[in-house]
Amino acid sequence: MISTAAISPPNSELAVRKEAMHVPVMLSEVLDGLSLRSGGIYVDATLGLGGHTEAILSRCPEVKMVLALDYDTEAMKKAGSRLAAFGSRVRLVYSNFIHLRDVLLSNRIEQVDGILMDLGISSFHLENSGRGFSFSRDEPLDMRMDQSGAVTAADIVNKLSVERLTELIHTYGEERWAKRIAKRIYERRKAEVILSSRDLAEVIADSIPRKYHPRRIHPATRTFQALRIALNRELDNLKEALDSFPSCLRPGGRMCVISFHSMEDRLVKIAFREDKRLKPLTKKPLVPSLEEINSNPRARSAKLRVAQYRGQNTALTQLL
Ligand SMILES: C[S@@+](CC[C@H](N)C(=O)[O-])C[C@H]1O[C@@H](n2cnc3c(N)ncnc32)[C@H](O)[C@@H]1O
Repeated sequence: MISTAAISPPNSELAVRKEAMHVPVMLSEVLDGLSLRSGGIYVDATLGLGGHTEAILSRCPEVKMVLALDYDTEAMKKAGSRLAAFGSRVRLVYSNFIHLRDVLLSNRIEQVDGILMDLGISSFHLENSGRGFSFSRDEPLDMRMDQSGAVTAADIVNKLSVERLTELIHTYGEERWAKRIAKRIYERRKAEVILSSRDLAEVIADSIPRKYHPRRIHPATRTFQALRIALNRELDNLKEALDSFPSCLRPGGRMCVISFHSMEDRLVKIAFREDKRLKPLTKKPLVPSLEEINSNPRARSAKLRVAQYRGQNTALTQLL
């Protein structure tokens, strides 16, 4: 394993970092977890603005290549300029990560040394995409990470029945007021179509009795999370990835997953514990240091789990 701790980022990296809006979460833990090795090929399945990929490439010049995927073309474009200096050491592919195996095949790569998934949306989505991910902004209610998808959050909010909306908000937002919120949305949309994130946030806030408004988060937080997760099929994608990624790893290869809410973490925990191809290396998830949370509040709910692919040899000996 290559040591990453003692090498400081080159000046160019520092310069880019000043502009970058998204600070990569649990960076040193991820670099350790991937156990970077000389000549290794790694996959960043959720490139985003390229923070983790950039760190892998700049801090570990011995790493041969990072193949990075994202299905948000706008984020990829930004990451592309940021990573241009790394030349052929980085390959960016527009794809849903559930297709990783095919992406590797078409890039003539059989197996990789490690795969990173840093789930969810980035600060770019919240602050700069203009797609209504944030309840505190007045933006069109879109919420698609992959802009080629046909359905937007506005479609869900304005077309789903009260029952299905209730179920969606309850399931993916773990919101106890789901029924009231769905009913209020239904009443409101009879009068006029709900098209903006701020309008939706107001309807949600109005539907929860004021004395039950959560203290630490905006009353619309859980519903916004639910819409985003459902629309982008986030949990289904994660399940598919957890199932198919181990077969993309070389024996001993690592899988690192950063999740941001309990539904995601539960899926990762169960997969790492029950998939016989994997050996979990983190009994409990790693969490960010207080120092990191103070400097990057977005990191506060992050959980990192790491597993190692046992490889065919182990599986064979188990069969004998
Ligand atoms: C939290 S951000 C990653 C941030 C990145 N690690 C960094 O440091 O800049 C997650 C990214 O994953 C992408 N993403 C989410 N689900 C995806 C999927 N199923 N396939 C491909 N990309 C996905 C999102 O578009 C987003 O850009």
